[in-house]
Amino acid sequence: MYRVQRRATSKLKISSACRRKSQSQSKSSHISQIPEFSKYSPTKSISELAPYVSPTLCAYPLRSKYVNQQHYYQNQNILEKHYLTKKPHPVSLSQLAQYFDDSTALTKQKIVNSGNFVKQELVTRIAHKIHMLQMLPFDVVNNFHFCQVYESYYNIFERFRRYPAIRTLEDNEKFAEFLHTILSDFNSLNLPHLIMGALECRILDLYPPEKMDQVISSLLRARISRRLIVEEHLSITSNYHSGKKENTLVLGDIFQECSAKEFLLGAKNMCERFIQDMYFQGIKLPTFNIDGNTDLKFYFLPLHLKYLLGEVLRNSYEATMLEYIRLGLQEPEPITVTIVSNERSFIFRISDRAGGIPHDEKTIWSFGKSKELARQSLSNFHKLPGLQTVSLYDSVNGRGPTRSVDHPYKYTSLEPINASNLPSGLHKFEKPLLGLLERSSRYKLGIGLAMCKVYAEYWNGNLTVHSIPGYGTDTILKLGNLMYHTDRLQLDKV
Ligand SMILES: Nc1ncnc2c1ncn2[C@@H]1O[C@H](COP(=O)(O)OP(=O)(O)O)[C@@H](O)[C@H]1O
Ligand SMILES: [Mg+2]
Repeated sequence: MYRVQRRATSKLKISSACRRKSQSQSKSSHISQIPEFSKYSPTKSISELAPYVSPTLCAYPLRSKYVNQQHYYQNQNILEKHYLTKKPHPVSLSQLAQYFDDSTALTKQKIVNSGNFVKQELVTRIAHKIHMLQMLPFDVVNNFHFCQVYESYYNIFERFRRYPAIRTLEDNEKFAEFLHTILSDFNSLNLPHLIMGALECRILDLYPPEKMDQVISSLLRARISRRLIVEEHLSITSNYHSGKKENTLVLGDIFQECSAKEFLLGAKNMCERFIQDMYFQGIKLPTFNIDGNTDLKFYFLPLHLKYLLGEVLRNSYEATMLEYIRLGLQEPEPITVTIVSNERSFIFRISDRAGGIPHDEKTIWSFGKSKELARQSLSNFHKLPGLQTVSLYDSVNGRGPTRSVDHPYKYTSLEPINASNLPSGLHKFEKPLLGLLERSSRYKLGIGLAMCKVYAEYWNGNLTVHSIPGYGTDTILKLGNLMYHTDRLQLDKV
Protein backbone atom coordinates (compact mmCIF):
# COMPACT_ATOMS: atom_id res chain seq x y z
CA MET A 1 0.00 0.00 0.00
CA TYR A 2 1.39 3.40 -0.79
CA ARG A 3 1.83 5.38 2.30
CA VAL A 4 0.37 8.77 1.83
CA GLN A 5 3.24 11.16 1.47
CA ARG A 6 1.47 14.01 3.14
CA ARG A 7 3.31 13.48 6.37
CA ALA A 8 6.06 15.74 5.19
CA THR A 9 4.02 18.89 5.09
CA SER A 10 3.87 21.20 8.05
CA LYS A 11 4.95 21.62 11.64
CA LEU A 12 8.44 20.48 10.99
CA LYS A 13 11.65 22.02 12.05
CA ILE A 14 13.27 21.66 8.73
CA SER A 15 15.54 23.95 6.84
CA SER A 16 13.68 26.47 4.77
CA ALA A 17 14.92 24.96 1.52
CA CYS A 18 13.76 21.60 2.58
CA ARG A 19 10.47 22.96 3.75
CA ARG A 20 9.81 24.76 0.52
CA LYS A 21 10.55 21.65 -1.44
CA SER A 22 8.43 19.51 0.75
CA GLN A 23 5.50 21.89 0.65
CA SER A 24 5.60 22.40 -3.06
CA GLN A 25 5.73 18.64 -3.55
CA SER A 26 2.81 18.10 -1.27
CA LYS A 27 0.80 20.66 -3.13
CA SER A 28 1.67 19.41 -6.54
CA SER A 29 1.46 15.71 -6.09
CA HIS A 30 1.02 14.07 -2.76
CA ILE A 31 -2.29 15.29 -1.52
CA SER A 32 -3.85 14.62 -4.84
CA GLN A 33 -2.29 11.18 -4.80
CA ILE A 34 -3.96 9.72 -1.78
CA PRO A 35 -3.99 6.12 -2.80
CA GLU A 36 -7.08 4.20 -3.46
CA PHE A 37 -6.89 2.09 -0.32
CA SER A 38 -9.77 -0.15 -1.22
CA LYS A 39 -7.84 -1.39 -4.25
CA TYR A 40 -5.45 -3.25 -2.00
CA SER A 41 -8.02 -4.79 0.19
CA PRO A 42 -11.10 -5.26 -1.94
CA THR A 43 -12.78 -7.39 0.69
CA LYS A 44 -12.65 -4.70 3.37
CA SER A 45 -14.92 -1.73 3.40
CA ILE A 46 -13.43 1.73 3.58
CA SER A 47 -14.83 2.25 7.08
CA GLU A 48 -12.83 -0.75 8.25
CA LEU A 49 -9.70 0.61 6.62
CA ALA A 50 -10.17 4.14 7.89
CA PRO A 51 -8.32 3.72 11.22
CA TYR A 52 -5.23 2.65 9.31
CA VAL A 53 -5.45 5.47 6.86
CA SER A 54 -5.36 8.29 9.38
CA PRO A 55 -1.87 7.53 10.82
CA THR A 56 -0.51 7.78 7.33
CA LEU A 57 -1.59 11.39 7.16
CA CYS A 58 0.72 12.43 10.01
CA ALA A 59 3.89 14.33 9.30
CA TYR A 60 6.00 11.58 10.81
CA PRO A 61 5.34 7.90 11.23
CA LEU A 62 3.61 7.28 14.53
CA ARG A 63 5.76 5.85 17.29
CA SER A 64 8.94 6.08 15.33
CA LYS A 65 11.95 6.40 17.55
CA TYR A 66 14.28 7.99 15.06
CA VAL A 67 12.10 9.61 12.43
CA ASN A 68 10.48 12.32 14.50
CA GLN A 69 10.97 16.02 15.12
CA GLN A 70 13.37 15.60 18.01
CA HIS A 71 15.61 12.99 16.57
CA TYR A 72 15.72 13.31 12.81
CA TYR A 73 17.18 16.80 12.69
CA GLN A 74 19.07 16.80 15.95
CA ASN A 75 21.27 13.79 15.71
CA GLN A 76 23.95 15.66 13.80
CA ASN A 77 26.17 16.15 16.82
CA ILE A 78 26.97 12.58 17.52
CA LEU A 79 26.80 11.42 13.98
CA GLU A 80 28.81 14.17 12.33
CA LYS A 81 31.31 15.01 15.00
CA HIS A 82 32.15 11.52 16.12
CA TYR A 83 31.45 9.09 13.34
CA LEU A 84 31.35 10.68 9.93
CA THR A 85 34.85 12.02 10.44
CA LYS A 86 36.07 8.43 10.40
CA LYS A 87 36.34 6.69 7.07
CA PRO A 88 35.50 3.03 6.66
CA HIS A 89 38.58 0.84 6.18
CA PRO A 90 38.80 -0.73 2.77
CA VAL A 91 39.57 -4.38 3.47
CA SER A 92 40.76 -7.07 1.13
CA LEU A 93 39.58 -10.64 1.41
CA SER A 94 42.96 -11.88 2.59
CA GLN A 95 43.16 -9.17 5.22
CA LEU A 96 39.75 -10.20 6.35
CA ALA A 97 40.87 -13.79 6.76
CA GLN A 98 44.13 -12.94 8.46
CA TYR A 99 43.19 -9.87 10.38
CA PHE A 100 46.06 -7.61 9.61
CA ASP A 101 48.99 -9.71 10.55
CA ASP A 102 50.66 -11.93 8.06
CA SER A 103 50.14 -15.19 9.81
CA THR A 104 47.21 -17.49 9.39
CA ALA A 105 47.51 -18.67 13.00
CA LEU A 106 44.30 -18.29 14.90
CA THR A 107 45.16 -16.85 18.28
CA LYS A 108 43.17 -15.52 21.16
CA GLN A 109 44.50 -12.04 20.48
CA LYS A 110 43.43 -12.23 16.88
CA ILE A 111 39.89 -13.11 17.86
CA VAL A 112 39.68 -10.23 20.30
CA ASN A 113 41.20 -7.79 17.78
CA SER A 114 38.81 -8.99 15.16
CA GLY A 115 35.85 -8.41 17.49
CA ASN A 116 36.92 -4.83 18.15
CA PHE A 117 37.56 -4.22 14.50
CA VAL A 118 34.07 -5.45 13.62
CA LYS A 119 32.48 -3.24 16.25
CA GLN A 120 34.34 -0.09 15.16
CA GLU A 121 33.98 -0.76 11.50
CA LEU A 122 30.28 -1.44 11.59
CA VAL A 123 29.54 1.73 13.53
CA THR A 124 31.46 3.79 11.02
CA ARG A 125 29.99 2.09 7.99
CA ILE A 126 26.43 2.29 9.17
CA ALA A 127 26.89 5.95 10.20
CA HIS A 128 27.87 6.78 6.64
CA LYS A 129 24.81 5.02 5.29
CA ILE A 130 22.52 6.82 7.73
CA HIS A 131 24.05 10.04 6.53
CA MET A 132 23.44 9.02 2.95
CA LEU A 133 19.77 8.45 3.74
CA GLN A 134 19.56 11.80 5.52
CA MET A 135 20.84 13.49 2.40
CA LEU A 136 17.86 12.20 0.43
CA PRO A 137 14.73 14.37 0.26
CA PHE A 138 12.73 13.94 3.43
CA ASP A 139 9.78 12.56 1.48
CA VAL A 140 11.90 9.64 0.40
CA VAL A 141 13.06 8.68 3.88
CA ASN A 142 9.58 9.32 5.19
CA ASN A 143 8.27 6.72 2.79
CA PHE A 144 6.84 3.86 4.78
CA HIS A 145 9.47 1.33 3.64
CA PHE A 146 12.51 3.58 3.68
CA CYS A 147 11.50 4.64 7.13
CA GLN A 148 11.79 1.05 8.33
CA VAL A 149 15.27 0.85 6.85
CA TYR A 150 16.33 4.15 8.40
CA GLU A 151 14.94 3.11 11.73
CA SER A 152 16.68 -0.21 11.58
CA TYR A 153 20.04 1.33 10.57
CA TYR A 154 19.83 3.81 13.40
CA ASN A 155 18.98 1.09 15.81
CA ILE A 156 22.02 -0.92 14.67
CA PHE A 157 24.18 2.19 14.91
CA GLU A 158 23.09 2.84 18.48
CA ARG A 159 23.49 -0.73 19.54
CA PHE A 160 27.01 -1.01 18.13
CA ARG A 161 28.03 2.40 19.33
CA ARG A 162 27.12 1.61 22.89
CA TYR A 163 28.57 -1.85 22.87
CA PRO A 164 31.51 -2.04 25.29
CA ALA A 165 35.03 -2.80 24.05
CA ILE A 166 35.93 -6.47 23.77
CA ARG A 167 38.78 -7.46 26.04
CA THR A 168 38.49 -11.16 26.66
CA LEU A 169 37.31 -14.28 24.91
CA GLU A 170 34.21 -14.24 27.12
CA ASP A 171 33.44 -10.70 25.97
CA ASN A 172 33.80 -11.93 22.44
CA GLU A 173 31.40 -14.82 23.06
CA LYS A 174 28.77 -12.32 24.14
CA PHE A 175 29.56 -10.10 21.20
CA ALA A 176 29.10 -13.04 18.83
CA GLU A 177 25.66 -13.67 20.33
CA PHE A 178 24.86 -10.02 19.89
CA LEU A 179 25.87 -10.23 16.22
CA HIS A 180 23.65 -13.27 15.73
CA THR A 181 20.70 -11.35 17.13
CA ILE A 182 21.31 -8.30 14.97
CA LEU A 183 21.51 -10.38 11.83
CA SER A 184 18.40 -12.31 12.52
CA ASP A 185 15.99 -9.83 14.11
CA PHE A 186 13.85 -7.31 12.29
CA ASN A 187 16.88 -5.95 10.42
CA SER A 188 16.60 -8.90 8.13
CA LEU A 189 13.57 -7.24 6.55
CA ASN A 190 15.66 -4.36 5.23
CA LEU A 191 16.18 -5.97 1.87
CA PRO A 192 12.50 -6.16 0.84
CA HIS A 193 11.85 -2.77 2.43
CA LEU A 194 14.61 -1.12 0.42
CA ILE A 195 13.25 -2.42 -2.82
CA MET A 196 9.63 -1.71 -2.03
CA GLY A 197 10.67 1.79 -1.00
CA ALA A 198 12.35 2.29 -4.37
CA LEU A 199 9.23 1.07 -6.15
CA GLU A 200 6.93 3.37 -4.20
CA CYS A 201 9.19 6.35 -4.82
CA ARG A 202 9.11 5.52 -8.51
CA ILE A 203 5.33 5.38 -8.57
CA LEU A 204 5.01 8.62 -6.63
CA ASP A 205 7.78 10.36 -8.57
CA LEU A 206 9.66 11.22 -5.42
CA TYR A 207 13.18 10.76 -6.72
CA PRO A 208 14.78 10.40 -10.17
CA PRO A 209 14.93 6.69 -11.06
CA GLU A 210 18.60 6.69 -12.13
CA LYS A 211 19.61 8.26 -8.87
CA MET A 212 17.43 5.86 -6.94
CA ASP A 213 19.17 2.94 -8.65
CA GLN A 214 22.49 4.33 -7.50
CA VAL A 215 21.25 4.69 -3.94
CA ILE A 216 19.87 1.16 -3.82
CA SER A 217 22.97 -0.36 -5.42
CA SER A 218 25.22 1.47 -3.01
CA LEU A 219 23.15 0.37 0.00
CA LEU A 220 23.14 -3.21 -1.27
CA ARG A 221 26.90 -3.25 -1.80
CA ALA A 222 27.46 -1.85 1.66
CA ARG A 223 25.12 -4.45 3.05
CA ILE A 224 27.11 -7.26 1.41
CA SER A 225 30.36 -5.89 2.88
CA ARG A 226 28.95 -5.49 6.36
CA ARG A 227 27.55 -8.98 6.33
CA LEU A 228 30.87 -10.43 5.16
CA ILE A 229 32.75 -8.69 7.92
CA VAL A 230 30.32 -9.97 10.52
CA GLU A 231 30.17 -13.49 9.13
CA GLU A 232 33.93 -13.78 8.96
CA HIS A 233 34.18 -12.81 12.59
CA LEU A 234 31.52 -15.31 13.61
CA SER A 235 33.25 -17.95 11.55
CA ILE A 236 36.71 -17.42 13.08
CA THR A 237 35.16 -17.26 16.55
CA SER A 238 33.48 -20.61 16.10
CA ASN A 239 36.59 -22.06 14.45
CA TYR A 240 38.73 -20.98 17.38
CA HIS A 241 36.34 -22.54 19.85
CA SER A 242 36.23 -25.76 17.91
CA GLY A 243 40.02 -26.02 18.23
CA LYS A 244 41.15 -24.89 14.78
CA LYS A 245 44.48 -23.20 14.93
CA GLU A 246 44.57 -21.70 11.48
CA ASN A 247 42.40 -19.37 9.45
CA THR A 248 42.80 -18.63 5.78
CA LEU A 249 40.25 -17.49 3.27
CA VAL A 250 39.57 -21.05 2.36
CA LEU A 251 39.87 -22.53 5.80
CA GLY A 252 37.50 -20.00 7.26
CA ASP A 253 34.16 -21.14 6.02
CA ILE A 254 32.46 -18.26 4.30
CA PHE A 255 33.99 -19.18 0.97
CA GLN A 256 33.52 -22.76 -0.06
CA GLU A 257 34.52 -24.86 -3.00
CA CYS A 258 31.50 -24.92 -5.29
CA SER A 259 30.93 -27.33 -8.15
CA ALA A 260 29.50 -25.33 -11.05
CA LYS A 261 27.55 -28.34 -12.28
CA GLU A 262 26.02 -29.11 -8.89
CA PHE A 263 24.89 -25.54 -8.43
CA LEU A 264 23.45 -25.45 -11.94
CA LEU A 265 21.56 -28.69 -11.41
CA GLY A 266 20.29 -27.36 -8.08
CA ALA A 267 19.05 -24.20 -9.81
CA LYS A 268 17.47 -26.27 -12.59
CA ASN A 269 15.59 -28.41 -10.06
CA MET A 270 14.35 -25.31 -8.31
CA CYS A 271 13.15 -23.79 -11.60
CA GLU A 272 11.36 -27.01 -12.52
CA ARG A 273 9.59 -27.01 -9.17
CA PHE A 274 8.48 -23.42 -9.70
CA ILE A 275 7.20 -24.22 -13.19
CA GLN A 276 5.26 -27.25 -11.98
CA ASP A 277 3.85 -25.22 -9.15
CA MET A 278 2.81 -22.50 -11.56
CA TYR A 279 1.23 -24.83 -14.18
CA PHE A 280 0.75 -28.50 -13.23
CA GLN A 281 2.85 -31.50 -12.18
CA GLY A 282 3.10 -33.34 -15.50
CA ILE A 283 3.79 -30.34 -17.72
CA LYS A 284 6.60 -30.87 -20.27
CA LEU A 285 9.83 -29.21 -19.15
CA PRO A 286 12.68 -27.83 -21.25
CA THR A 287 15.69 -30.09 -21.83
CA PHE A 288 18.58 -28.72 -19.80
CA ASN A 289 22.13 -28.98 -21.15
CA ILE A 290 25.42 -28.01 -19.58
CA ASP A 291 28.51 -27.78 -21.74
CA GLY A 292 31.96 -26.24 -21.72
CA ASN A 293 34.05 -26.69 -18.59
CA THR A 294 31.52 -28.91 -16.84
CA ASP A 295 33.96 -30.03 -14.14
CA LEU A 296 34.64 -26.53 -12.93
CA LYS A 297 35.01 -26.14 -9.18
CA PHE A 298 35.79 -22.79 -7.64
CA TYR A 299 35.74 -20.93 -4.36
CA PHE A 300 32.79 -18.65 -3.91
CA LEU A 301 30.12 -17.62 -1.48
CA PRO A 302 27.66 -20.50 -1.84
CA LEU A 303 24.56 -18.46 -1.18
CA HIS A 304 25.46 -15.73 -3.63
CA LEU A 305 26.16 -18.33 -6.31
CA LYS A 306 22.86 -20.04 -5.61
CA TYR A 307 21.03 -16.75 -5.82
CA LEU A 308 22.71 -15.59 -9.04
CA LEU A 309 22.33 -18.83 -10.97
CA GLY A 310 18.82 -19.32 -9.62
CA GLU A 311 17.59 -15.91 -10.78
CA VAL A 312 19.07 -15.98 -14.27
CA LEU A 313 18.06 -19.55 -14.96
CA ARG A 314 14.61 -18.85 -13.72
CA ASN A 315 14.16 -16.08 -16.26
CA SER A 316 15.00 -18.50 -19.05
CA TYR A 317 12.66 -21.18 -17.69
CA GLU A 318 9.77 -18.77 -17.25
CA ALA A 319 10.18 -17.25 -20.71
CA THR A 320 10.66 -20.65 -22.36
CA MET A 321 7.42 -21.97 -20.86
CA LEU A 322 5.53 -18.86 -21.91
CA GLU A 323 6.71 -19.29 -25.49
CA TYR A 324 5.93 -23.01 -25.42
CA ILE A 325 2.35 -22.24 -24.47
CA ARG A 326 1.96 -19.14 -26.62
CA LEU A 327 3.16 -20.84 -29.80
CA GLY A 328 1.57 -24.21 -28.98
CA LEU A 329 4.88 -26.03 -29.56
CA GLN A 330 5.30 -29.82 -29.33
CA GLU A 331 7.67 -29.30 -26.47
CA PRO A 332 9.50 -26.42 -24.76
CA GLU A 333 12.72 -25.27 -26.41
CA PRO A 334 15.93 -26.40 -24.66
CA ILE A 335 18.03 -24.29 -22.30
CA THR A 336 21.80 -24.58 -22.49
CA VAL A 337 24.41 -23.33 -20.05
CA THR A 338 27.98 -23.02 -21.23
CA ILE A 339 30.66 -22.77 -18.56
CA VAL A 340 33.90 -21.02 -19.43
CA SER A 341 36.72 -20.23 -17.07
CA ASN A 342 40.13 -18.67 -17.10
CA GLU A 343 42.58 -17.63 -14.44
CA ARG A 344 40.68 -14.47 -13.58
CA SER A 345 37.04 -15.30 -14.00
CA PHE A 346 34.25 -17.80 -14.45
CA ILE A 347 31.58 -17.27 -17.04
CA PHE A 348 28.14 -18.83 -17.31
CA ARG A 349 26.28 -18.27 -20.56
CA ILE A 350 22.63 -19.22 -20.29
CA SER A 351 21.10 -19.58 -23.74
CA ASP A 352 17.40 -19.96 -24.33
CA ARG A 353 15.14 -19.82 -27.36
CA ALA A 354 12.30 -18.05 -25.68
CA GLY A 355 11.81 -15.21 -28.14
CA GLY A 356 14.05 -12.57 -26.54
CA ILE A 357 13.38 -9.97 -23.86
CA PRO A 358 10.21 -7.99 -24.50
CA HIS A 359 11.34 -4.90 -22.54
CA ASP A 360 13.47 -1.91 -23.14
CA GLU A 361 17.19 -2.51 -22.31
CA LYS A 362 17.14 0.42 -19.93
CA THR A 363 14.31 -0.60 -17.69
CA ILE A 364 15.37 -4.19 -17.10
CA TRP A 365 18.37 -3.05 -15.04
CA SER A 366 16.46 -0.58 -12.95
CA PHE A 367 14.94 -1.18 -9.52
CA GLY A 368 12.18 1.26 -10.22
CA LYS A 369 11.48 0.33 -13.88
CA SER A 370 8.67 2.16 -15.56
CA LYS A 371 5.82 3.31 -13.35
CA GLU A 372 3.56 0.65 -14.70
CA LEU A 373 6.05 -2.15 -14.04
CA ALA A 374 6.82 -0.69 -10.62
CA ARG A 375 3.11 -0.89 -9.79
CA GLN A 376 2.95 -4.51 -10.82
CA SER A 377 6.09 -5.41 -8.88
CA LEU A 378 4.90 -3.63 -5.79
CA SER A 379 1.56 -5.32 -5.84
CA ASN A 380 3.32 -8.69 -6.17
CA PHE A 381 5.57 -7.83 -3.24
CA HIS A 382 2.42 -7.30 -1.23
CA LYS A 383 1.14 -10.70 -2.24
CA LEU A 384 4.30 -12.50 -1.13
CA PRO A 385 3.19 -14.87 1.56
CA GLY A 386 4.94 -14.26 4.83
CA LEU A 387 6.33 -10.85 4.01
CA GLN A 388 5.95 -8.78 7.09
CA THR A 389 5.85 -5.20 6.00
CA VAL A 390 5.07 -3.78 9.37
CA SER A 391 7.41 -4.66 12.07
CA LEU A 392 9.52 -2.82 14.23
CA TYR A 393 8.80 0.29 16.17
CA ASP A 394 7.68 -1.50 19.27
CA SER A 395 10.18 -4.28 19.11
CA VAL A 396 12.87 -1.61 18.81
CA ASN A 397 11.81 -0.40 22.20
CA GLY A 398 12.06 -3.87 23.59
CA ARG A 399 8.32 -4.48 23.76
CA GLY A 400 6.58 -6.94 21.51
CA PRO A 401 5.67 -6.08 17.94
CA THR A 402 2.22 -4.94 18.99
CA ARG A 403 1.87 -2.64 16.04
CA SER A 404 1.32 -5.47 13.63
CA VAL A 405 -1.68 -6.58 15.65
CA ASP A 406 -3.61 -3.44 14.95
CA HIS A 407 -2.46 -2.97 11.42
CA PRO A 408 -3.72 -4.33 8.14
CA TYR A 409 -0.39 -5.97 7.31
CA LYS A 410 -0.75 -8.88 9.63
CA TYR A 411 1.74 -11.24 8.12
CA THR A 412 4.36 -13.30 9.77
CA SER A 413 7.96 -12.60 9.02
CA LEU A 414 9.55 -13.43 5.67
CA GLU A 415 11.90 -15.75 7.47
CA PRO A 416 12.17 -17.51 10.76
CA ILE A 417 13.70 -15.13 13.26
CA ASN A 418 15.59 -17.92 14.90
CA ALA A 419 19.01 -18.34 13.28
CA SER A 420 19.40 -21.86 14.62
CA ASN A 421 17.07 -23.37 12.05
CA LEU A 422 19.22 -22.23 9.14
CA PRO A 423 21.27 -24.94 7.46
CA SER A 424 24.77 -24.44 8.77
CA GLY A 425 27.54 -23.25 6.48
CA LEU A 426 25.64 -22.70 3.29
CA HIS A 427 23.14 -20.02 4.03
CA LYS A 428 24.08 -18.42 7.27
CA PHE A 429 22.31 -15.16 7.58
CA GLU A 430 21.43 -14.29 4.05
CA LYS A 431 17.98 -15.70 4.50
CA PRO A 432 16.39 -12.52 3.12
CA LEU A 433 18.09 -13.08 -0.20
CA LEU A 434 16.99 -16.67 -0.19
CA GLY A 435 13.47 -15.57 0.65
CA LEU A 436 13.42 -13.50 -2.52
CA LEU A 437 14.85 -16.32 -4.62
CA GLU A 438 12.37 -18.86 -3.39
CA ARG A 439 9.26 -16.89 -4.16
CA SER A 440 6.70 -18.55 -6.36
CA SER A 441 6.71 -17.71 -10.07
CA ARG A 442 3.29 -16.17 -9.61
CA TYR A 443 4.92 -13.21 -7.95
CA LYS A 444 7.11 -11.55 -10.50
CA LEU A 445 9.03 -8.90 -8.67
CA GLY A 446 10.84 -7.50 -11.67
CA ILE A 447 14.09 -6.93 -9.81
CA GLY A 448 16.01 -10.16 -10.46
CA LEU A 449 18.35 -8.77 -13.10
CA ALA A 450 18.94 -5.50 -11.25
CA MET A 451 19.82 -7.35 -8.04
CA CYS A 452 22.03 -9.90 -9.80
CA LYS A 453 23.98 -7.15 -11.50
CA VAL A 454 24.83 -5.62 -8.12
CA TYR A 455 25.96 -8.96 -6.73
CA ALA A 456 27.93 -9.97 -9.85
CA GLU A 457 29.71 -6.60 -9.98
CA TYR A 458 30.46 -6.83 -6.29
CA TRP A 459 32.45 -9.96 -7.01
CA ASN A 460 34.47 -8.37 -9.82
CA GLY A 461 32.17 -9.72 -12.48
CA ASN A 462 29.17 -8.50 -14.41
CA LEU A 463 25.88 -9.49 -15.92
CA THR A 464 24.80 -8.80 -19.48
CA VAL A 465 21.96 -9.94 -21.69
CA HIS A 466 21.96 -10.34 -25.45
CA SER A 467 18.46 -10.63 -26.69
CA ILE A 468 17.55 -11.52 -30.26
CA PRO A 469 13.91 -10.57 -30.70
CA GLY A 470 11.88 -13.45 -32.05
CA TYR A 471 14.60 -15.98 -31.27
CA GLY A 472 16.01 -16.02 -27.76
CA THR A 473 18.35 -14.63 -25.14
CA ASP A 474 21.89 -15.22 -23.96
CA THR A 475 22.33 -14.13 -20.37
CA ILE A 476 26.00 -13.91 -19.47
CA LEU A 477 27.02 -14.02 -15.85
CA LYS A 478 30.67 -13.37 -15.18
CA LEU A 479 32.17 -13.81 -11.71
CA GLY A 480 35.68 -12.86 -10.68
CA ASN A 481 38.00 -15.57 -9.40
CA LEU A 482 38.19 -14.56 -5.76
CA MET A 483 41.36 -16.53 -5.18
CA TYR A 484 43.03 -14.51 -7.91
CA HIS A 485 41.82 -11.21 -6.54
CA THR A 486 42.32 -11.85 -2.82
CA ASP A 487 44.49 -8.81 -2.31
CA ARG A 488 42.12 -6.47 -4.00
CA LEU A 489 40.34 -4.16 -1.63
CA GLN A 490 37.11 -6.01 -1.96
CA LEU A 491 35.27 -4.63 0.98
CA ASP A 492 35.85 -1.05 -0.04
CA LYS A 493 32.41 -1.18 -1.57
CA VAL A 494 31.07 0.38 1.57
N1 LIG B 1 15.79 -15.01 -20.84
C1 LIG B 1 14.74 -14.18 -20.97
N2 LIG B 1 13.86 -14.31 -22.00
C2 LIG B 1 12.80 -13.47 -22.13
N3 LIG B 1 12.51 -12.47 -21.28
C3 LIG B 1 13.34 -12.29 -20.24
C4 LIG B 1 14.49 -13.12 -20.01
N4 LIG B 1 15.14 -12.67 -18.91
C5 LIG B 1 14.42 -11.63 -18.46
N5 LIG B 1 13.35 -11.39 -19.23
C6 LIG B 1 12.34 -10.32 -19.08
O1 LIG B 1 12.88 -9.33 -18.24
C7 LIG B 1 11.99 -9.09 -17.15
C8 LIG B 1 12.77 -8.72 -15.93
O2 LIG B 1 13.45 -9.83 -15.40
P1 LIG B 1 13.86 -9.85 -13.88
O3 LIG B 1 14.63 -8.62 -13.59
O4 LIG B 1 14.54 -11.14 -13.62
O5 LIG B 1 12.50 -9.76 -13.11
P2 LIG B 1 11.27 -10.80 -13.03
O6 LIG B 1 11.77 -12.09 -13.56
O7 LIG B 1 10.92 -10.88 -11.58
O8 LIG B 1 10.19 -10.17 -13.85
C9 LIG B 1 11.18 -10.37 -17.03
O9 LIG B 1 9.92 -10.13 -16.49
C10 LIG B 1 11.07 -10.84 -18.45
O10 LIG B 1 9.99 -10.21 -19.09
MG1 LIG C 1 13.53 -12.92 -12.92
